[in-house]
Parts: sequence; structure tokens; C-alpha cells
Amino acid sequence: MTYFDKNALKLSHGHMRDNVKEGDIAIDATAGRGRDTLLLSELVGDSGKVYAFDIQKEAIESTRALLEENGRVNVTLINESHHLMAEFVKKAKAVIFNLGFLPGGDHSIFSHSDTSIKAIDAALSIIDDDGFVSICSYYGGDTGFEERDTLLSYLENLDQKKYTVMLQSFHNRKNCPPLFIIIEKNR
Ligand SMILES: C[S@@+](CC[C@H](N)C(=O)[O-])C[C@H]1O[C@@H](n2cnc3c(N)ncnc32)[C@H](O)[C@@H]1O
Repeated sequence: MTYFDKNALKLSHGHMRDNVKEGDIAIDATAGRGRDTLLLSELVGDSGKVYAFDIQKEAIESTRALLEENGRVNVTLINESHHLMAEFVKKAKAVIFNLGFLPGGDHSIFSHSDTSIKAIDAALSIIDDDGFVSICSYYGGDTGFEERDTLLSYLENLDQKKYTVMLQSFHNRKNCPPLFIIIEKNR
């Protein structure tokens, strides 16, 4: 494995490809332009199901268009905040977060730690014992550092008897390279 041509998104997609299987239920907590939703939809296949959340109508419509272009019909799009996910989905193998703002959208609308942390708590309450939560955290620039700092301190304090948290960072890259984080339940 070499990392020079990787970034958080590629790590996240590689991790999804390795761990999300045909027939699984998966959640994209931040649909955005739909790239993660599309990949999840392909990985779970026709016998699986994907739920994708976003607070912005523009993101939901963008994701809908991408799914239609690719003939994917196993996705339910939900125009709600991800911290409410447990009201819509009771069980999932994977929950994917891509925190930040909508690419090519309004940079003043972005994820905030108060709802992100509640959403990660909700995700941990519904994932299967062999499931995972993964997070790409975009920070700096328009979104600032508050969400990243709160997230890292929350993750540091997750009970190590119950969960394993892996954090991957491109440590010597400049300009706030996004972080990739995986949370698994200990079994
Ligand atoms: C970095 S983008 C996601 C990119 C997306 N995964 C893709 O493949 O294009 C972050 C998205 O999170 C959404 N978002 C922010 N706060 C949210 C919340 N509380 N619940 C759901 N989505 C939220 C934004 O509207 C934005 O579309």
C-alpha cells in the first residue's frame, strides 16, 4: 500500500469497498452531490438498501439526479438532519459521514458539531455488531476548526471497552487535509 496518491475520500471509498457487501443496509449521513451514496448503492446491490440524508434540498436533488443517471433504485433520500437518523432507520451495517459544506454549493451552510456528534451517537446506536461508522472531516477555510476539535475530543472519550477508533491523517500536508476516521464496535 502506498499513500502518496491517496486522500481521505479515497481511503473512505477503499474502506467501503472492503467492508460493505451485497444485501447490507447502509446510511449516507451527508448525501451532498451523491458520490458516496452512489458507491454505497452499488456495493449493497439490488438486495440491499441505502438511506441518504441531507439538510439541503439542492443536495438531495443533486443526489437524486446522479442516482437516476446511473439507474440506481435502492436508495431512499431523506431531506432531514442526520441527527434524526434513528427515527428513520433501525439497523445498519455502515454509516458514512462526509462533514463540511456542499461542494459547489453555499459555503455558509456546513455541518456543525452539535448535530454531528448527536448523529454519530445515533449511528453508533443502530450499527450492527460487525458494522462501522466512517467519517471524512473537512475543516479549516469557511468551516473553521470548531467541529474538528469537538469531534476529536468526543472520539478520544468514546469508551475504549466498547469501541475502537482509528484516525488517519496526512500529517505533513498543508492547507488542512481532511481526516479519515473509522469507528468499530469491539466484539
Ligand atoms: C462535504 S458535503 C458531502 C459530500 C457528499 N458525500 C458527496 O459525495 O458529494 C457535506 C454535506 O453535509 C450536509 N449537511 C450539513 N449538515 C447536515 C446535517 N445536520 N444533516 C445532514 N446533512 C448535513 C451539507 O448540506 C452538505 O451537502
